[in-house]
Amino acid sequence: MLSDNISRDENYLLHFAGQSVTALAEEYGTPLYLMDEQRIRGNMRMYTKAFAENFLPGSRPLFASKAASFKAIYRIAKDEGMGVDCVSCGEIATALAADFPAGDIYFHGNCKTDADIRYAVERGVGCFVVDNADELLALERIAAGLGVKQRVLLRLSPGIDPHTYAEVSTGMVDSKFGAAVETGQAMELLKLSLAQPHLLTEGVHCHVGSQVFDEDVYERTIDIMLPFMAQVRKETGVTLPVLNMGGGYGVRYRESDKSVDIPGRIAAVAEHFRALCAELDFPEPKMLMEPGRSIVADAGMTVYTVGAVKHIPGYKSYVIVDGGMGDNPRYALYKAPYTVYHAGKGGVMMLCDLAGRCCESGDMLQPKITLPADTCRGDLVCVATTGAYNYSMASNYNRLGRPPVVMLSDKGNYVAVKRESIDELLGLDN
Ligand code: LLP
Repeated sequence: MLSDNISRDENYLLHFAGQSVTALAEEYGTPLYLMDEQRIRGNMRMYTKAFAENFLPGSRPLFASKAASFKAIYRIAKDEGMGVDCVSCGEIATALAADFPAGDIYFHGNCKTDADIRYAVERGVGCFVVDNADELLALERIAAGLGVKQRVLLRLSPGIDPHTYAEVSTGMVDSKFGAAVETGQAMELLKLSLAQPHLLTEGVHCHVGSQVFDEDVYERTIDIMLPFMAQVRKETGVTLPVLNMGGGYGVRYRESDKSVDIPGRIAAVAEHFRALCAELDFPEPKMLMEPGRSIVADAGMTVYTVGAVKHIPGYKSYVIVDGGMGDNPRYALYKAPYTVYHAGKGGVMMLCDLAGRCCESGDMLQPKITLPADTCRGDLVCVATTGAYNYSMASNYNRLGRPPVVMLSDKGNYVAVKRESIDELLGLDN
């Protein structure tokens, strides 16, 4: 099995987080997102422990909540001592509604409107990660109007290729995110920020990409960011105390994917970081990282009911399910790989494509998979590793309601997000 929270019982029934997927589908219906709460907590603890062991006090991992944003996640993050990265007022509002402390929120985004900025400053959001000079000046004006001194980090682009897919590669010089170190724009933004009376410039941020397996990607990034911080000290006399390295560690979607030893990687990054601080004679900054996918991906599974099986002689077979690109657009967008399991059958297998119910051919969950040859209408089929960027990227295409998120917990399962009803879909129409 792809992950140790997936197993089969003696009747070959698939279990997730120790529970029968078939029983869960009977109770909650399909399509259904399942989340394994213990796995989320375990992944968060892996990061908080690695941070405590490797970096200065005050360093911490922030959960990148774009990967999965609903109230229960913020409650868990608070419990586990994580900060969070939010990228919109919607994510901030969700965090606050879950009693997540505003001061532990880092507000991201490359196009914050004046209304966004005011919303966040008024609510006491701890730190803005400022993307550009337009935002910086708007934030100064709004903070001044509200009589607030706002903590900020500046998003920089270190010019690093993380060797992942183009849509999630963000650290190159020509990126739409941040200010490039190479062109001198990062230093300009930094000096502009230091000159603002209502901004407290704490440090710099970068995020070079997502689903990254390169062993040395953070090391290469540190090699750009720390010398930049040393240069800032030289040119301005200011020693910045915080370095935020963003998210990015890759997860296994298929058996053939490598697994990343995250605690081991963090220890190696820390060693490199301390050695370079010493070499530059630069006081070690506090370290922040923003893992998203590696916290929630393997804590998720999506369960579907088969609606039809179609064999096109001489061509291919389709297994068509009651969900699709509405609840998981990642294959349609990125050709993202997934592992698919039948919930209760084995035996002779057939090659097929797992297709969704939306009215377009691009609505594919995964091509060229194997499922039992006798798969038929009414069977349950599960897609593994759907905890990151599935619910959070779901849409209502074809006016399909989004599936519920059921949190599986040893203290009792609960519905973290309800199934979206037709009435709710109609709620905004006049
Ligand atoms: N920090 C920043 C500033 C980010 O932009 C991201 C992800 C993260 C942290 C978290 O990265 P992670 O640890 O999850 O790799 N929708 C795409 C992923 C987009 C990632 C965007 N930024 C997907 O489904 O693959």
